[in-house]
Amino acid sequence: MKDKLIAAFRARFGRSPAVIARAPGRLEFVGNHTDYNGGTVLGVSIDRSVWVAVAPRDDGQWRLASEAQATLVTLPAGNPPAKQTGAGSWTNYPLGVIAALPKFNLRPPAGFDFLAMSDLPSGAGLSSSAALELASALAFLELSGQQAPRETVVMLCKHAENQFVGVPCGVLDQGVSGFGRENHLVFIDCRGPKFAPVPLPASARFWVFNTHTKHALVDGLYAARHRECMTAAKLLGVPLLADASPASVAAARTQLPPVEFRRAQHVVDEIARVDATVIALRAGDLAAVGKLLTASHRSSQTLFENSTAELDFLVDQLAAAPQVFGARLTGGGFGGAVMAVTSPDFSETQAAAVAEAYAKKFGSRPEVLRAQSGDGAALQ
Ligand code: GLA
Repeated sequence: MKDKLIAAFRARFGRSPAVIARAPGRLEFVGNHTDYNGGTVLGVSIDRSVWVAVAPRDDGQWRLASEAQATLVTLPAGNPPAKQTGAGSWTNYPLGVIAALPKFNLRPPAGFDFLAMSDLPSGAGLSSSAALELASALAFLELSGQQAPRETVVMLCKHAENQFVGVPCGVLDQGVSGFGRENHLVFIDCRGPKFAPVPLPASARFWVFNTHTKHALVDGLYAARHRECMTAAKLLGVPLLADASPASVAAARTQLPPVEFRRAQHVVDEIARVDATVIALRAGDLAAVGKLLTASHRSSQTLFENSTAELDFLVDQLAAAPQVFGARLTGGGFGGAVMAVTSPDFSETQAAAVAEAYAKKFGSRPEVLRAQSGDGAALQ
């Protein structure tokens, strides 16, 4: 990938890049919509990444291109970047990082040429946007001769997503891309936040079924869930839902409107499932881990209502296979991908059969990806 990126950079800009950075996508392992509620979550960085190459320019221009597109976005360096629309809207991720740098006492880079390349599908719930932010941040810092602790890089990328892109996400995506480690999960205590690696049992395998479906209102629905959770916390008299417990939410059932009750129950149960999953992982008990993962999906289906018929179908098909420990939607929901954690015996043939059954029912084939854990964001 690195050689391909260098060749593409030369073809586009007529010279070699000065800095290359790579940041992986992630799977949300368990802990759905817990991050912005101050809870805990487990994610895994995968062996698919966004790559960024940059070289300095001395004419005061920021020029950004993506391998996937012909358009070049050119802006005057030094000014706070303006938000882009249309074909250039993908640049809001690197531009959001530039806009965030001064807020973290870091300098925006001077003029540059920038090229992004990816082997991580976008729109699949695998956090290609966070990966683009992380790779951009590392490249810009290196280009401008600055260093920052990894926590700062993660928080500045989250800031870019919240403030510039305008998605009220939590720290999961940027945290896992930033702190991932091969053969490990990343445990995040989102209040702090604090990041810790948790060893992944060697026999776990990941399969991703990308439905290529996305609810038309996905950003609005995510923001709506965020609001509902904040309302639920307020009604429960706690700062964030992580401050409530499954028992305290159950006790408040009649005081909460049904929607807020369901959202709160999902979040507190998910936080409990994260703790239980860490214990099961430490014991190497993948069967128990898998049950918690599938239970998380069922809770998305019935309580958080962020699943879809397509995602439910895949989970039902996968959970029926004896080689599958567990399966669940991964990420925000409302479309995107299902992740299955399986034993090494789960085969391509079985994956193809699931995809075939899905195609029969929904008229289109999901993309099947075999994913492995991989290292977090780094200069290359
Ligand atoms: C998206 C967001 C994350 C997290 C998940 C749901 O991936 O970007 O911050 O909230 O949804 O757990």
